[in-house]
Amino acid sequence: MKALIFTTIILVQAGFSFGQDSTGTSEWFRSKSLPELCDTFRTDKCPDRHNFLEVYEPLFEPMRDDSIRFFEIGILTGLSHLMWVNYFQNAEVFGIDIKDYSAAAAGSGIQTFVADQSNRQDLYAFMRASGANFDVILDDGGHAMDHQQISLGCMFQAVKPGGMFIIEDVHTSLPEFYPDSSFHVDRLETNTTLLMIEAFIRTGKIYSEYMLPVEAEYLEQTIDRIELHYLFNERHSIVCVIHKKEAIEPR
Ligand SMILES: C[S@@+](CC[C@H](N)C(=O)[O-])C[C@H]1O[C@@H](n2cnc3c(N)ncnc32)[C@H](O)[C@@H]1O
Repeated sequence: MKALIFTTIILVQAGFSFGQDSTGTSEWFRSKSLPELCDTFRTDKCPDRHNFLEVYEPLFEPMRDDSIRFFEIGILTGLSHLMWVNYFQNAEVFGIDIKDYSAAAAGSGIQTFVADQSNRQDLYAFMRASGANFDVILDDGGHAMDHQQISLGCMFQAVKPGGMFIIEDVHTSLPEFYPDSSFHVDRLETNTTLLMIEAFIRTGKIYSEYMLPVEAEYLEQTIDRIELHYLFNERHSIVCVIHKKEAIEPR
């Protein structure tokens, strides 16, 4: 409950500053790169933390003014979603979270839904309600192995041809640096998302105990290429960008 109240305050303050502050006009936001937007939207994607924005800026800049559909899993303070709304000024921005942030997000331009990223029924309900067909899906949810792999397997079909699915915090696959049981890495570390991605890069095959065979097969047929970025910072940050083929053959 405390977290929800905190979120509401941050969203309302940020929303208030958009229209009132001379440095907060849409032109001002449009003139800033993603790392520069960190002065306003201090998420853990920023240069002083995981620094994923260094990877995203060259990926996202060419589509910055397009009418894209952008969807991020994991809302919390709402700051990253607010950053997307202000960076992609012609985009539709969607978010899901296991908690309900709809009241906090009201009036922000962000479309929020309650869904558990590890539950296929929830994900299918979200895809139907939102219309799916996303240019970008970004997973910054619970970062558990099963959650990451179920979300990818179930929702890669919701990425447009030529679009991308990004998995943040792939470093949670490394218990040496992230020894947290909530990430569900098994004792032999054979179930990790990092291992699954590295195996795909080497073999073109998806091995995941959490995906349905039809999901793994769809990924093998429709992934164009994968970028795996090791940020080499003190957090050992890793992010993975999975590009979908431009032309998808009918199943
Ligand atoms: C790292 S925070 C998101 C931060 C936000 N994207 C940002 O950059 O400001 C992770 C969020 O994922 C949510 N979450 C955790 N497990 C989840 C699940 N199984 N399904 C959906 N959301 C989940 C949490 O409630 C939390 O709000």
